Amino acid sequence: MTDLTSLEASLLSEIGAAADEASLENVRVASLGKKGSISDLLKMLGTMSPDERKVKGPVINGLKDKITTALAEKKTQLHQVKLNERLQSERADITLPVLQSGLESGRIHPITQVLDEITAIFHDMGFAVAEGPDIETDELNFTLLNFPEGHPAREMHDTFFMPSSDGKKRVLRTHTSPVQIRTMQNVKPPIRVIIPGRTYRHDSDQTHTPMFHQCEGLVIDEHAHMGHMKWVLEEFCKAFFEVPSVKMRLRPSHFPFTEPSAEVDIQCSRKGGEVRFGEGDDWMEILGCGMVHPNVLKNCGLDPDKVQGFAWGMGIDRLAMLKYGMPDLRDFFSGDMRWIEHYGFRPLDIPNLIRGLSS
Ligand code: DAH
Repeated sequence: MTDLTSLEASLLSEIGAAADEASLENVRVASLGKKGSISDLLKMLGTMSPDERKVKGPVINGLKDKITTALAEKKTQLHQVKLNERLQSERADITLPVLQSGLESGRIHPITQVLDEITAIFHDMGFAVAEGPDIETDELNFTLLNFPEGHPAREMHDTFFMPSSDGKKRVLRTHTSPVQIRTMQNVKPPIRVIIPGRTYRHDSDQTHTPMFHQCEGLVIDEHAHMGHMKWVLEEFCKAFFEVPSVKMRLRPSHFPFTEPSAEVDIQCSRKGGEVRFGEGDDWMEILGCGMVHPNVLKNCGLDPDKVQGFAWGMGIDRLAMLKYGMPDLRDFFSGDMRWIEHYGFRPLDIPNLIRGLSS
């Protein structure tokens, strides 16, 4: 009995002294494990006489229960201590300022921004996006768009001609209009697309660069008419310039691929170089448009007696300059970090008609 009392005392003190779960486990194995001291005692019960077992049985089992409980309690306690240490060491101070990331310091170029804005607006009206190559055949850039061979309109485009290896004349496309042809050749009407992209002309000054951006629009179905076109363009202008109303005027014009053709001016005010839209009594030209010429429809294998439609083309760079007040187009492509930091947009402010295009 004294042995049992001292065994209990020494086990309890070892349990008490265990500093971590591993040393506690050692105590458990040494007492309750297969060859542990208490397990040995339990085994001995089998060899005792019934009388002796009656006396010692409860004592040894009592010791086993006591040690089991003490081990479990200590285990919980050690676990808690460890958890507290971890909580302390892995503590996150949520009041600290967020670390600067690329998403914070990077900027979206105004052209990308304006393109995303235009896409969001026309997407809402059910338009898809179509694209075509920058190097285009003379046939698609001019001929199929109803520019006759040798027509002065070709000269007006200040075309960059490409060297040819297969006899086909190629150019850097002077407008996004050839993608109208590509679309009509490949998609069965009804068609509703916008066509953003890079375009090239031999021209450079404050408002012209040899590479610039346009966005074309094309609608072809059985009944599309100029009234629809005016509505679409008016809705676009209101949404793009973020004003509740805007007066628009269509001036007769000429493009080989549309008949009738028009240029669209929108109402604006000009005060000391600053232009505001949706107010004032001045006008600003923003795009060209018209009803797709029957010859163009025929050139794409469409029957002008069955389908008709309208198209327009606008300069993305010019729209960006007007909306965000940038005076010189050449700065857009100079790669000056100060410019992009000043005029650029935050990457996560993705243009969206619900939250706002440019907020
Ligand atoms: N392609 C013309 C240009 O670059 C713009 C244009 C005018 C496109 C009228 C059109 C249109 O689709 O209908 O000047």
